[in-house]
Amino acid sequence: MLLTERLSLRPFRVADAPVLSAYRSDPEVARYQGWDAPFPMEAALRVVAGLEGRDPRAEGWFQYALELTDGGALIGDVGVNRHDEGRQAEIGFTLAPAYQGRGYAAEAVGRVVGHLLAEEGLHRVHASVDARNERSARLLERLGFRREGLEVQSQWWKGEWTDDARYAVLASEWSRS
Ligand SMILES: CC(C)(COP(=O)(O)OP(=O)(O)OC[C@H]1O[C@@H](n2cnc3c(N)ncnc32)[C@H](O)[C@@H]1OP(=O)(O)O)[C@@H](O)C(=O)NCCC(=O)NCCS
Repeated sequence: MLLTERLSLRPFRVADAPVLSAYRSDPEVARYQGWDAPFPMEAALRVVAGLEGRDPRAEGWFQYALELTDGGALIGDVGVNRHDEGRQAEIGFTLAPAYQGRGYAAEAVGRVVGHLLAEEGLHRVHASVDARNERSARLLERLGFRREGLEVQSQWWKGEWTDDARYAVLASEWSRS
């Protein structure tokens, strides 16, 4: 469990599946993500079941559920994919629409990245976003990620070729920020 001023970042539970299904079913939320809307309850249950008992320090994807300290609502998630024998991690993030534009994503992603680089000793954290996904790019740049490049039409995504923007931050850069 990781804490921020307004959030608890905790493992997913089976009881979270209806809320996960609801926010993943929003077409705007799904637009640049690896799933299609609607995202049915059965699919949400499969995601939650697949995460059950996972060790956040193990290689592969772990998903933090973002819970408001005030009231306990589940508002989104931050995914972490540790790789390179635990030296690096890729991140992804999603907020339910009703909770966007309030700084919650920056608060949660900042906490996770700080945990990985400053507490867990990883060397580098990176993210890959659809170049049209301006809110994600703004979030990463605000947190101090460097834009490392643009892979032009490198992804066949939902019926079209899309550009992939690459972002990263090193532990040495994070400790200076
Ligand atoms: C990407 C995503 C998580 C960003 O969410 P977000 O709420 O815009 O991100 P932040 O937490 O950084 O919030 C920033 C906004 O909150 C505002 N804000 C309000 N109160 C704030 C506070 N207390 N602290 C910080 N910012 C605050 C900021 O001014 C900013 O507004 P702006 O974008 O109009 O400039 C969200 O758009 C999303 O879930 N998108 C769909 C899923 C997706 O595409 N994920 C990325 C896949 S890689």
